[in-house]
Amino acid sequence: MQHQKILVLDFGGQYNQLIARRVRDLGVYCELKPSEMTAAEIRAFGPIGIIFTGGPNSVYAENAPDVDKGVFELGIPILGICYGCQLIAYKRGGSVVRAAASEYGKKELILCGEDALLGGVPQRSVCWMSHTDRVEELPAGCKVLASTESCPVAVYGDDGRKLYGVQFHPEVAHSEYGDRVLKNFLYAVCGAKGDWSMQNVVQEQVARLREKIGGKKVLCALSGGVDSAVAATLVHRAVGKQLVCVFVDHGLHRKGETEEVMRVFGEELGMDLVKADAGPLFLTALKGVTDPEQKRKIIGKLFIEVFEKEAKKIGAVDFLVQGTIYPDVIESGKGKSAVIKSHHNVGGLPDVIDFKEIVEPLRDLFKDEVRKLGTELGLSDSIVWRQPCPGPALAIRIMGEVTEEKLETLRDADAIFREEIFKAGLEKEIWQYFAVITDSKTVGVQGDFRTYENVIALRAVTSADAMTADWARIPYEVLERVSNRITGEVKHANRVVYDITSKPPATIEWE
Ligand code: XMP
Repeated sequence: MQHQKILVLDFGGQYNQLIARRVRDLGVYCELKPSEMTAAEIRAFGPIGIIFTGGPNSVYAENAPDVDKGVFELGIPILGICYGCQLIAYKRGGSVVRAAASEYGKKELILCGEDALLGGVPQRSVCWMSHTDRVEELPAGCKVLASTESCPVAVYGDDGRKLYGVQFHPEVAHSEYGDRVLKNFLYAVCGAKGDWSMQNVVQEQVARLREKIGGKKVLCALSGGVDSAVAATLVHRAVGKQLVCVFVDHGLHRKGETEEVMRVFGEELGMDLVKADAGPLFLTALKGVTDPEQKRKIIGKLFIEVFEKEAKKIGAVDFLVQGTIYPDVIESGKGKSAVIKSHHNVGGLPDVIDFKEIVEPLRDLFKDEVRKLGTELGLSDSIVWRQPCPGPALAIRIMGEVTEEKLETLRDADAIFREEIFKAGLEKEIWQYFAVITDSKTVGVQGDFRTYENVIALRAVTSADAMTADWARIPYEVLERVSNRITGEVKHANRVVYDITSKPPATIEWE
């Protein structure tokens, strides 16, 4: 089945992925594509509507991203947001000027008439602005639909031609009726049917995978993370025992994780699941190593070696499953960002495995959609809402040398923290929460005895994409319970501290 599609043309704004996610949340499939796409390519893509995103440039600047003028002749509805709104004006006979002062933050949006785009939006509401340039003269055929105190043309449109511009950001949560505006554009303007749902995705993907894989053999590296878990479950639903999964137990997983993977995927789902027990091998290789990058490199290399050994036992396969998700696809299409940490992923696997083709069943999905899909496939919340865990796992949450004793202390402390966050019902609000064993020991008094033990740090952050993060405002009572339990129940820990640093300047992980 062919879905209706919305095309989101990317002009470089920071909220662009958010726009695409909102559109999909509203039940319409969409893709984010570079603004250089030509009118002919857009026609071939066949969207029911186009959204121009925001961007950091001024339309008059040299090298400012442009759009193929032919896009206005395709008869497809267009909504321009921020830079996109200015670009439409600029290309269609209007004008854009630099405002005396930048407008930033929550502003009152005041409507000046009725139209399809703003249907159901009250006369006055709050919208989120972030701009310096603004539209001065309207594009041909358009009229002003709303303004703010310092932005006379905050929304304009032409219902007949189905062309609209909004200076504010409807995609961010601070715009009270932002979702309503996007929904109006999709349903009232573009005639969307709302045919994008996870149930459809399962049916379609299963059919597609069956056709692609046929009777052939597939291999998947299960990491215990959400993406590989959902990808494997989907492929398993499609081809059953033709799929073999390998789980490398490097001995650095969180408490109960290895057991859960084996139970859920091996026993409950009945997958053909091989566990490579490599804990001692990793600990030996990490002996005496304290440098974070060194730890990552050792683990990454060894992981591939262990996997390769298991894969050799299985022999040649036709397909290798990868849990690539849509943000990875979008990111990799852009310029390089600075390497802050050498992230270890299963990315090196394709080089050492004998296979013919990669299968990436989650390639079109955002993280929240992957979670919904997992739930649709019957996976439990503890798998689907599992927080992202770095490939090197607990090794980079143990400052200094990794030892069996520190691993045990950290596992127990981390398990208590996770349990209390779940009990407090905070697990879906917080992006990541974990314990760290610091490289400091402090004096304490426990049960009338002087102790000299490890300091455990708690780290919990809210974030949308892990690029930036803020420390989570966990209620004091929850922190108190966690601290009491860790110092009371965990061996070799006598002090608990809470990390209140955002990213930047700190990173989420401590190493
Ligand atoms: P940082 O610490 O760089 O982390 O702020 C950003 C996000 O990436 C995760 N992370 C990793 N993920 N391999 C991974 O697959 C790694 O080596 C790695 N290091 C950090 C981290 O948990 C956070 O979600």
